[in-house]
Amino acid sequence: MYSAYVFDAYGTLFDVHAAVRAHADKIGPDHAQLSEIWRQKQLEYSWTRTLMDRYVDFWDLTEQALDYAFSKVASANQDARKDLLEAYWTLDCFAEVPTVLKALKDSGVRTGILSNGSTGMLEAAVKSAGLEPLIDDVISVDRINRFKAVPAVYQMVVDDFRIYPDAVSFQSSNRWDIAAAKAFGFRTVWCNRGGQPDEYSDLPPDLLLADLNGLIGSDGNPV
Ligand code: LAC
Repeated sequence: MYSAYVFDAYGTLFDVHAAVRAHADKIGPDHAQLSEIWRQKQLEYSWTRTLMDRYVDFWDLTEQALDYAFSKVASANQDARKDLLEAYWTLDCFAEVPTVLKALKDSGVRTGILSNGSTGMLEAAVKSAGLEPLIDDVISVDRINRFKAVPAVYQMVVDDFRIYPDAVSFQSSNRWDIAAAKAFGFRTVWCNRGGQPDEYSDLPPDLLLADLNGLIGSDGNPV
């Protein structure tokens, strides 16, 4: 029914908290708080930079956000800074991702990533997770120098795949990303891995999943 399945990257395919978990002992007891603040600031900077029309790429934002998180969480050991940043280039993908992407590809639909990540970051993460053969198109906001949630970001999918928005199934773990994709006209699948409360009630997801396994029906076909 949908000819392309397009995924958000961080939090949806790749585990953004894996970097901190891998170095939790070095960081100290407040590692989870550091990870939370790091992610929240990374996103905040993406939104404010887009509103200001002062783009800097996602890698720079990621570094700036980590430095802020270290300032905020005084107990965190800053010796872990280099390890944390390096880990971002080799994030784990969530366990079900390879199987689900393979089933989608086998069914004949096209697959893609649409992400705030810089082209370099995305290519490295896709490669390190072994997803290269399973993803047809990796689309970075680098092309337009604006971050999600501006409609021009979602427009890149339509332009690349040469299809109408309603032929695209868009999967994200970020509820705000789902709201924007819904407003744009995609079929939206909210992968609510963290069990977060719903929001943006006027822009609801078309499908709600706890992980991506639910994208493949019991008959092996995409849902
Ligand atoms: C992304 C961020 C929003 O991959 O998770 O675009």
